Amino acid sequence: MCGLIGCTGVKCAAKILYGGLEDLEYRGYDSAGIAVLEKGKIVAAKRKGRVCALKTAAEELCGTSGIGHTRWATHGRPSDENAHPHTSGRFSVVHNGIIENYSKIKEELEGEGYEFSSQTDSEVVVHLLNKYYRGDLKETVLCAVERLKGAFALCILCEGYEGFVAVKYRNPIIVGYGSGGALYAASDMPALAGLSGSVAVLKDGQIAFASEGKISFCDFYGEPVCLTFSPVPAAARSTRLGGFPHYMIKEINEIPAAVKNTAHAFAEEKCFAALSRAAKKRGGFGEIFMCGCGTAYHSALAASYFAEAELGIPVRAETAGEFRYKKSAVGGGTLFVAVSQSGETADTVEAARAAKAAGAYVVALTNVPYSALTGIADTVVPVRAGTEICVAATKSYCGQIAALALLSATLKGGTAYSRTLADLKEIGAKCSAAISDCGVEDVARACASSSGVYFIGRGIDYPVALEGSLKLKEVSYVPGEGYPAGELKHGTIALIDGGTLAVAVITDRSLGEKTASAVEQIYSRGGRAAVVCAEGCAPSNLAERADFIIEVPACPAYLSPIVSVIPLQLIAYRTAVILGRDPDKPRNLAKSVTVE
Ligand code: M6R
Repeated sequence: MCGLIGCTGVKCAAKILYGGLEDLEYRGYDSAGIAVLEKGKIVAAKRKGRVCALKTAAEELCGTSGIGHTRWATHGRPSDENAHPHTSGRFSVVHNGIIENYSKIKEELEGEGYEFSSQTDSEVVVHLLNKYYRGDLKETVLCAVERLKGAFALCILCEGYEGFVAVKYRNPIIVGYGSGGALYAASDMPALAGLSGSVAVLKDGQIAFASEGKISFCDFYGEPVCLTFSPVPAAARSTRLGGFPHYMIKEINEIPAAVKNTAHAFAEEKCFAALSRAAKKRGGFGEIFMCGCGTAYHSALAASYFAEAELGIPVRAETAGEFRYKKSAVGGGTLFVAVSQSGETADTVEAARAAKAAGAYVVALTNVPYSALTGIADTVVPVRAGTEICVAATKSYCGQIAALALLSATLKGGTAYSRTLADLKEIGAKCSAAISDCGVEDVARACASSSGVYFIGRGIDYPVALEGSLKLKEVSYVPGEGYPAGELKHGTIALIDGGTLAVAVITDRSLGEKTASAVEQIYSRGGRAAVVCAEGCAPSNLAERADFIIEVPACPAYLSPIVSVIPLQLIAYRTAVILGRDPDKPRNLAKSVTVE
């Protein structure tokens, strides 16, 4: 949700900032803007639309310090006026988050004669800085942040201060040292990967002052704090397309590596020991809650099927946004697993916080080791999918299922863990086969011309159907729904007509006949059907009748969501391309949803 970047001590700040905004564009692409200090004065350029819309204007800016922003609109529609940076007096500010008390502050500031030029919540920050400035920058920043409620990562530029200030509260900000005295800040590691040798992740309530080759830190009370700098993680470095036309297809091709690296990391990070110890200390867990949003919720839901069967205790998956506002009965006997690619999704982070406050043992299962979620959790279970740039999650979903399978096996004990590791070793080749051989083009064409696509499945195939539907809607804008195969006849079947396509997922032979009946009901109403099945799992009558059939290699049932999702991801990708959509940056979306 919005990307921030700041730099100082560089030859041409605008050039660096523009490059950084390209790396951060996955966080929002409603508008982009840059402000630099030119001969001590703030000069800004901002444009509605993608970062590339800013290119020409950015090329005209010079100066050695500046800040930049790429926006996902919350308050105020996408427009030039609502684009950041916002400027007031000697200050310019970029913001990621939501200032919850902005209306009250705005009223007060307007009463004092401050003029607002945007509909954003963010603009109050820059006017507050202007209001409180008496010549001491640190005092000014402390006074302004004291007034703010909500979530905010900020980069601030101030005339008279050759550098920038970065502020962190509930939204991420990382600072780094570059070569030749250059200093940087950004919302995420990939934007700093090519610039900074060493980086530090700010914690909530911390402020960084970057100027003249040095970064110093204090807390919101003005007390100095020390941060540890470390090298940029290798995983954050490889974020280029490398010959692929889109990140979505590149990242689908990286699924085998995501699964393999996640399995390695589980062993490397000694998750087995930490989880076993925690379970022993609490006399075993009586129940497991798994929470996430969107795709992460779907991987949690898939895991709830195999974990409950394996462990014989209740395992529930719930969307984090629902969990956090519910009077839930989690407690000391609960293992709470927060699943999130980014580790920054506001609902998931707050759900984990609530579970922790209720006494649950909290596991953060995330692809980003330095995220907000890892700061809350008792244990981190790493997903090592590598940086995921495409807004649609693909390889991270498969990495999450692998990590969740290892977590479940660890709690089971005995030989389960080594069996899961061995099964995961075999999965990479099956994924590669599914990626290269499954032939989705005809189904994608059918999706592109359908009025609606219904994804159905039973058992563990149901969460996969949900994920297939989300992926298609998200990147191609073709309407659709994911449904348990048995539920279709309880209402939704009223929507089926000649323009409808159903995609049935079948990886469990014992449930094949049942799902086949649902497909028959669709045929009877004039719809068409595609069957995505594990080798040999589709009943022969269905295989003969289906309009399209896509087979993927068979694998142990609990790992089937890793393989069976691949054709669905490819169908969504190809449908988007056929319809001329940009699969990497779907409309209205952003990669990390760091606001409620
Ligand atoms: O970073 P997270 O995994 O917490 O993100 C959760 C969802 O916002 C995310 O999975 C979203 O649904 C994706 N765009 C789906 O492709």
